[in-house]
Amino acid sequence: MTSATRNTVSRCSHHASKREAGYADVLVGLQYGDEGKAKIIDALAQDYDVIARFNGGANAGHTIDTPLGKIALKQLPSGVFHPHASLYIGSGCAINPWKLADEIEQLRDMGISLDGRLHISARAALVQPHHIAHDRRGSDTIGTTGNGIGPCYADRALRVRNDTRVNLMLGDLLEREAQTVMAMRRVLTGMINAEGGACPWMAELSDLLLSLPRVAHTLRPYLEPDRSWLTRRVMAGGRVLFEGAQSVLLDVVDGTQPFVTSSHTVPAYAYVGGDLPPKFHRRTIGVAKAIMSRVGRGPFPSELGGERSAQYCHAASQSRVGVVEEAQRHSPDTLLRSQDPLDVGTALRMLTGEYGTGTGRPRRIGILDLAALGDVVRMHAVDCVYLNKVDCLTHYFQSTYQGVPVRVQRDALSGGEASELKIYTGLTESAIARSRDGTLDSAMRGFVEFVERHIGAPLAGIGLGPERAGLVSLASHPPTPAPVGEAHG
Ligand code: IMP
Repeated sequence: MTSATRNTVSRCSHHASKREAGYADVLVGLQYGDEGKAKIIDALAQDYDVIARFNGGANAGHTIDTPLGKIALKQLPSGVFHPHASLYIGSGCAINPWKLADEIEQLRDMGISLDGRLHISARAALVQPHHIAHDRRGSDTIGTTGNGIGPCYADRALRVRNDTRVNLMLGDLLEREAQTVMAMRRVLTGMINAEGGACPWMAELSDLLLSLPRVAHTLRPYLEPDRSWLTRRVMAGGRVLFEGAQSVLLDVVDGTQPFVTSSHTVPAYAYVGGDLPPKFHRRTIGVAKAIMSRVGRGPFPSELGGERSAQYCHAASQSRVGVVEEAQRHSPDTLLRSQDPLDVGTALRMLTGEYGTGTGRPRRIGILDLAALGDVVRMHAVDCVYLNKVDCLTHYFQSTYQGVPVRVQRDALSGGEASELKIYTGLTESAIARSRDGTLDSAMRGFVEFVERHIGAPLAGIGLGPERAGLVSLASHPPTPAPVGEAHG
C-alpha cells in the first residue's frame, strides 16, 4: 500500500468511526406489497428509538386492532403504539396532508398524542388536489390506488408548469400557507379549464382546498425543518428502523414498468428518502409471505390462474366486487378442491382475507415464488427474512396439490409451468399446528431449511397466525452479525 492510499484509508476509517453513534436497519417487503410488514415492525419496535418512513404515502396502509377499535394507518410509521419510539417521515415521502391530519386526530381521540414524537420532513412532497384528479383519471392502466402519488412525484421532478411552481413541499404549506393554497388553486383551476370544466370530483377537490388551513394547523407542530434531525439522533446513539412502503418488486425503476409504484422501494433508497447518511446502515431485513398477492396490474409469474386471475381481479375491482360479494357467490371449501388453479386462488383469497386494506380490491393470489425471492435477496443483499402467513399453507392440504406448491425456477424455457412448480410434501398440517408454541416441529424445520436453501438467506421468523403471538422467532437463526468494526448496542 502506498503512503497516499494508507492515508486515504486511515482518513476514511477515522470518518467512519461511529463508536458512540447508533445505526439504522432497513425493513422492506420483498414481493408486491402487503406482506405484513407492520406486524414485524410491531414485534421489533422495542429495540429501536426511531421508526422512519422514507417513501410512498397514502397508497400504503395497514389496519391495527386496538382495545379502542380498529384504526387504519396509511402515512404514519408503524410503531405509533410503542410510546418510547419517535416517528419520522422523511423527505422521500409524498404527504397527503388531509389524510395525515386525520390519522393524527384519530389517534388524539384515542388518547394517543404524537406531540414531541412525530417529526415530518419539511421537504416531503405535498400531494395536491390536481394530483388526485390526474391519478384517478389514469388509474386504470396500471391499477394505481388513486391517491395522487405518481402525479405528485412527477411534479416534484417537473418543478414548474406554465410558470407556476408545482413541486410543493410540506414546508411550503406550513410556512407560507396563503401563497401555497393559492398556487394549488391556480394549478387546479388551470387543469379544469384546460379540460373544458369537466371534472367529476370538482366539489370534493375544492373542499380539500377550503379545509387546508385546519389541516395545516394540525400538522404544523410536527414539521421538522432540520434536514439533519435523523442524523443527529443517530450520531447521539439513536437506533433507527426504516419501514419501506410498497415493496421491492414495485420499485419505480427496478420493478416491471409501468406496473409499479412511483417511488423507490428498494432498501438503498432508505438513506435518500429517509435523510440519513448510508454509513449508518447495519442490516437489511426482508418480509415476504408464504401465499403471495398482488394488487393492480402487471406480471406475477406464480399467479394461480395466471392471466385469467389477473383479468378477473381487475374486472372485480372495477365493478367493486370485494370480500362481501365473493362470500355471497362462492364456497371457498368447494373451490379449494377444484382442479382449476383460478378456483384455488379464489378460495385462498377468501380463506386468508386477501383484499386491499384501503381499496377493498380482491388481491391476485399466487404460490410462493422462491425463485423471485432468491433474486431479490441476492440483488439487495438482504440479511434475513421474515416469512408471514406460513399457517395459511395448511389450506393446500385440502386442495388437489396435496402439498405446498412453490415456484423454484425462473423462466424455464422448456416444460412450461410444470417444470417451474415443485410440490413440497414434507410439511404437514399438524407440524404447522405444533409449531405455534414457538418450538419448531421437525417437519416445519425441514420446510424452513428448504426455503432458506432456495432464497440464500436465513429466516428470522415465521408467521403462524395473525395475532402477535403468531410470529415465531427462529432463535437458532441469529441475525447477521454487524460488520467488523461496528460497536453497536
Ligand atoms: P400507486 O402507488 O397508487 O401509484 O399504484 C401503483 C401500483 O402499486 C399499483 O399496482 C398499486 O396497486 C400498487 N401499490 C401501491 N401501494 C401498494 C401497497 O401498499 N400494497 C400493494 N400494492 C400497492
